[in-house]
Order: sequence, then structure tokens, then C-alpha cells
Amino acid sequence: MDPAKADLPEHLWRRLLDGDAVDEPECDLYRPLLASPDAADGCLVLGRIAQSLDGRIATVAGASRWISGPEDIRHTHRLRALSDAILVGAGTVRADDPLLTTRAVAGPSPVRVVLDPDRRLGADRRVFAGGPPTLLLCAADALAAAPPPGRAELVGLPRGPDGIAIPAVLAALAARGLRRIFVEGGGLTVSRFLAAGALDRLHVTIAPLLLGSGIPAFTLPEARQPEDGLRLSWTVHRLGADLLLDIPLHRARPPVCGRPPP
Ligand SMILES: NC(=O)c1ccc[n+]([C@@H]2O[C@H](COP(=O)([O-])OP(=O)(O)OC[C@H]3O[C@@H](n4cnc5c(N)ncnc54)[C@H](OP(=O)(O)O)[C@@H]3O)[C@@H](O)[C@H]2O)c1
Repeated sequence: MDPAKADLPEHLWRRLLDGDAVDEPECDLYRPLLASPDAADGCLVLGRIAQSLDGRIATVAGASRWISGPEDIRHTHRLRALSDAILVGAGTVRADDPLLTTRAVAGPSPVRVVLDPDRRLGADRRVFAGGPPTLLLCAADALAAAPPPGRAELVGLPRGPDGIAIPAVLAALAARGLRRIFVEGGGLTVSRFLAAGALDRLHVTIAPLLLGSGIPAFTLPEARQPEDGLRLSWTVHRLGADLLLDIPLHRARPPVCGRPPP
């Protein structure tokens, strides 16, 4: 069967923006994102990755513009507009210096959230200048390392064995009324949310592109046998030349080396 086309007509997009979960099939992709969060932390968390056919999100040097096509960029901006917060790792801000706004579609820009545990990002990054509010999440022991960059609000969180614990991130965002969280990259950050069992859903775009090498989409605990991996279900949508996989996770997390998590 042909994959569903995901490019949304403008009038339906406007209705979705108004919170109207319209029943047209073109809205299937977006409807789950408008549902009420059902996790105990009160957040609905969507991860996203655009990857090459060989599972890379950027070249070895960190160039990722553009892996996927314009339809996928528009889709990403729609996901931003439906979210309270867009969260990225420090590697993405370092490599791309992104604005993280909704320039490509109608709709509000969410609060921007950057995870930079050791305050290694320069204050000159564009996300810290004008535009929507930005939260810089760092380890509590790095709070005093430098003044808040630009107009960003600095938030210190406890450091755990694997960096800043994801539940602490979600609690800090929920405390600020930010409950629809869009984790837009890069691979390490999405992987940490996935490993923590903190993603409700994942949108993975696969572009018909081979890079040969590069930054991996997912870096997760090793499965020793295929049967030990996290087996997923998905629905497939066509976005221009790319395929978008819509993956419900229900906070599932990969087993660690074949053993289910405690
Ligand atoms: N194709 C796509 O969909 C896409 C999307 C976004 C970005 N990109 C590309 O991906 C590359 C960056 O991706 P990446 O995987 O290398 O890095 P990343 O996920 O953007 O950032 C990883 C860094 O963020 C910090 N971090 C994330 N979660 C943390 C946690 N729970 N606790 C503590 N620190 C945390 C750490 O910073 P420290 O290193 O300071 O500890 C970590 O090394 C760039 O080249 C960018 O262009 C592609």
C-alpha cells in the first residue's frame, strides 16, 4: 500500500493550530500530539530525527543542512508550533547555531531549551540573542561558571551518572508550564531521552541519501541479539522524496544489553 501523504493543506493546519483535532486522515500524524499527556510527569514528549538511509544525521564534520527535503523542514516547523518547548543538545547549537523558530509555517514559536551541562557554548549563539525565550539547562555545579548568556534564563539541575537526569529536565519544564516537549536533536540527546524511557513518540524521517559515515542517529545500549532490541511499530508517511516514520513509544525504553531495565 502506498504510504499516506503527510503534506497538510493549509486550511487543516490552521484548524489544528486552533486545537481542533480534525478527523481528516491528513491529520493522523498530528492528532496524537494534541492529546492530553498521560505520563505521570504530565509531559507529552516527541523525539525527532532526520537521517540518511545509512542512519546518519550529519556528516563527520557535523554538516546536516540539509539531509531531508523542504516538506520535512515544514513538518518540523509544524511540530515546533504544536509544542510548548523545543529542546536540543549542545552539539546541535555548536554545529548549526540554529534559531529554532517556526519561520516556515504559520504558528507560534515555542520556548527554546538547550542542554549544555558544562556551559561550554559561547554566549554568541543565536538562540541566546533575540527571539522567543530560551532556557539554558546546565548542571547545578556549572551555574556560577559564567553569567547567563544573552537573554537566556539559566536553570541548574542535578548531575547523574549519565549527565543531567531526564526526569529532572521534564520536571523543570513542567514546573514552568511547558508540557508538550519537542526533542529535536541531535542524535545523542534524542537517544538519552529514549534510553530513559522518556519519549511518548518518535518521528524519524529517512532521506534517500547515503553519507557513508557521519554522526549516528541513535546511540543506545547494545543489544547482543536482534531479539534483545526494542522492536517498534510505525506508520509510514510520504514527505516529498522522504519517508516519515511515526513511531508510538508509550515511554518504552531499550533493554540494556539484553536485560530488561530494573
Ligand atoms: N538530522 C537531524 O535531524 C539533526 C537534528 C539536530 C542536529 N543535527 C546534527 O547533529 C549534530 C549534533 O548531534 P549530536 O548527537 O552530536 O549532539 P547533540 O545531541 O546535539 O548534543 C549532545 C550534547 O548535549 C548535551 N546533552 C544532551 N543531553 C544531555 C543530558 N541528558 N545530560 C547532559 N548533557 C546532555 C551534552 O553536552 P556536552 O557534550 O557538553 O556534555 C551532549 O554531548 C550536529 O552536527 C547537527 O548538525 C541533525
